[in-house]
Amino acid sequence: MDTPLRVAVIVGSTRDGRFGPTVASWIRGHLDRRADMTADVIDLVETPLPTVFPVLGDPPQSQEAVEQLSAVSPRLAAADAFVIVTPEYNRSFPASLKNAIDWHNREWNAKPVGFVAYGGFSAGLRAVEQLRLVMAELHAVTMRDAVGLQAPWAQIGSDGTSPGGDAVAKAMLDQLAWWGQALREARTARPYGA
Ligand SMILES: Cc1cc2nc3c(=O)[nH]c(=O)nc-3n(C[C@H](O)[C@H](O)[C@H](O)COP(=O)(O)O)c2cc1C
Repeated sequence: MDTPLRVAVIVGSTRDGRFGPTVASWIRGHLDRRADMTADVIDLVETPLPTVFPVLGDPPQSQEAVEQLSAVSPRLAAADAFVIVTPEYNRSFPASLKNAIDWHNREWNAKPVGFVAYGGFSAGLRAVEQLRLVMAELHAVTMRDAVGLQAPWAQIGSDGTSPGGDAVAKAMLDQLAWWGQALREARTARPYGA
């Protein structure tokens, strides 16, 4: 069997009292049960990033910024695929997530991205649709099937299962596995020149 794909799971919300970690550990459970993937959970609370950017093209200006980025950027670069765990905030995704995305570019290129979204009425899917546009700019490929959990606190049981989410999570991860292997082989054969 091929080397398992390295999947970076990005926990996008940073709010006090957030539900994001529960959703992240649910999808992490799916990843851990698969032989074809390994998970690296990047929680943006544990790895905060600067919100002031340098002049375009310049490196980060402060030592603190360099250190903060060093806790995230190499892990994104090493990933073969991504799962973005995002809530819906005001019909979109959180600023903390956009900040983490915008600090990087080549790290996303020619890699697949799956989504696990959650929220109220729309189950986070409006956040997903906006993220698809952002990831297209970064030469990433988004998975057709996305998990959308409406009121996730009622959807994930204490046993770590989600009757409404488990099947679509598997479908999304199966797509991520196909694209992840295909794109890893392609990047190895011919580096992507975005
Ligand atoms: C600032 C803010 C805006 C929100 N806007 C929406 C929204 O537009 N649509 C929706 O379905 N839920 C919305 N919600 C509900 C969140 O999706 C829900 O509370 C979710 O649990 C938030 O993720 P978190 O707990 O990880 O922060 C909003 C919540 C917050 C805090």
